[in-house]
Amino acid sequence: MTEHTAEAGKGTGAGYMSGFGNEFATEALPGALPEGQNSPQRAPYGLYAEQLSGSPFTAPKATNLRTWFYRIRPSVLHTGAMADVDLPLFRSAPTVGESSLPLNPLRWDPTPLSDGAATFVTGMRTITTGGDVGTHVGYAIHTYGITRSMEDDYFYNADGEFLVVPEQGGLRFHTEMGIVAIRPGEIAIMPRGVKFRVVLDGCETARGYVCENYGAPLTLPERGPIGANGLANPRDFLAPVAAWEDKDGTDCTVTVKWCGRFQQCHLKHSPLDTVAWHGNYTPCKYDLDRFAPVGAILVDHPDPSIFTVLTSPTSEPGTANVDFVIFPPRWLVAENTFRPPWYHMNVMSEFMGLIHGVYDAKPEGFVPGGMSLHNCLIPHGPDHDAFNGASWKELGPEKLGNTMAFMFETRLPQHLTRYASDLPTRQERYFDCWRGLERNFDPDRRDWTKD
Ligand code: FE2
Repeated sequence: MTEHTAEAGKGTGAGYMSGFGNEFATEALPGALPEGQNSPQRAPYGLYAEQLSGSPFTAPKATNLRTWFYRIRPSVLHTGAMADVDLPLFRSAPTVGESSLPLNPLRWDPTPLSDGAATFVTGMRTITTGGDVGTHVGYAIHTYGITRSMEDDYFYNADGEFLVVPEQGGLRFHTEMGIVAIRPGEIAIMPRGVKFRVVLDGCETARGYVCENYGAPLTLPERGPIGANGLANPRDFLAPVAAWEDKDGTDCTVTVKWCGRFQQCHLKHSPLDTVAWHGNYTPCKYDLDRFAPVGAILVDHPDPSIFTVLTSPTSEPGTANVDFVIFPPRWLVAENTFRPPWYHMNVMSEFMGLIHGVYDAKPEGFVPGGMSLHNCLIPHGPDHDAFNGASWKELGPEKLGNTMAFMFETRLPQHLTRYASDLPTRQERYFDCWRGLERNFDPDRRDWTKD
C-alpha cells in the first residue's frame, strides 16, 4: 500500500488545518483541485468529482455543509453487492423497555474488552439510546474496546456522526479526507457518511466512549454575554490535509450502518482514494486541554452548561439533542460557596464518563473508563463524603488539577440496552453513596456549625 499526504499549511502542525467548519481546501498532488469551479468537464489527473452533502442543499448558509472530493473512483464503486452483517451489540435507538433496572442513579466500572479480536466497529458496545434512528432524532451512547486495527476494512455511518472520546490508547482515523490521530485528552468527530478505518496508534488495546449523534451536526455553542472568545475556540479544531491510499488488488470490505442495519460489501481497492478536496464538511479533532473555561469569581457557580464544548441543537432554542460538556482542570475561588455541583433534578439526561483523574462530586467509585447515568428527573448530587468535605472546608483559592470528566447531556430520556443493564461492572450499591447524608436541620439554630 502507498499512502500519499498533502503538506499542512504553515503554522497548523503536521497534517492538519486549523479552524472549526472552515472552507478548507487541500490537495495531495499539486493541481488536483480544479480552479474556479467544482465540476470541470474533465477533472485533473483523471479524477472523479463528487460532492458529499452533510446538510440539505437548501440549508441556510450558517448550517450548510458539503465537501467536494476529487477521487480515483466515485463512491458508487466503493459499495458493491451489499449483504447483511450482524453486530448485535452495536445498537440503535429505540431500545425502549429493554431494562428493568430501578429508577435510581446508575454507575459502572469500565466496560470489559471483548474476548476475541475487536475493531472500532466490532468492539462497539451500546449503553443507552434516545429518540429514533429512523427519523434522525436522538443519539446512541457507546463504549468501545479495541484489540485489532482495521487494516483493509472500512466503515461509514449513514445514521449519525461519531464524537469519539478516548480514555486509553491512541487512535488513528484514516478517512476519506486525510488522517486524524487522537490520544486520551483529545476528541474526534467523524461526520455522517465519511468513510474511514481506525488503527491502534502505539498501543495494543484502546478504550473509550462514543456519542453517535443522529441530530443536527455538532457545532460550537453560542457564547452569549461571554463574548467572542473563550470555551472551545474555533482555531483549536484541526481538520486533516488530503491523503489517499493506493491499494488496488487488495481484498477490502466496506461496512455501512443505515437506520440501525449493517451491510457489507467486498472490494479490490481502498475507498480512501481522495487526492484533493475542498469544503466545510470534514472530520476534525480537538485537544480538551485547549478549552478556556469560564466560571464563578465571587460566589456560587454557573450551571454546568458553562463547560459546553459542542452542541447538537434542535429547533427549540437552548434545548439540545445532545451536548458534550467537560469538567476540566480549573481554579475554584468562590467565597462562602458550596463548590461541588449542587443537588439537583434535571429534565435533561446526563451520561458521564471520566477520562483521567478524579471528579470532585464523586471522589470514590467513579474511575477512568467508568460511566454513570443520571437520567431524566432522577435526583442526584454530591455523595456523602463530597458533601461533608465541601461543607466544612476552609475556603481559599484551590486548583482542581488532576481531572477530566465529561457529560453527554440530552433532552431525551436515555434507554439502557439489555447489554448495559446486564453488565457485571454495574455497581449495585451505587445508591449507598448518598445514604449517610444526615438530617442536619435544627429550627433553633440558623448558623449551622459543628459543636
Ligand atoms: Fe447532574
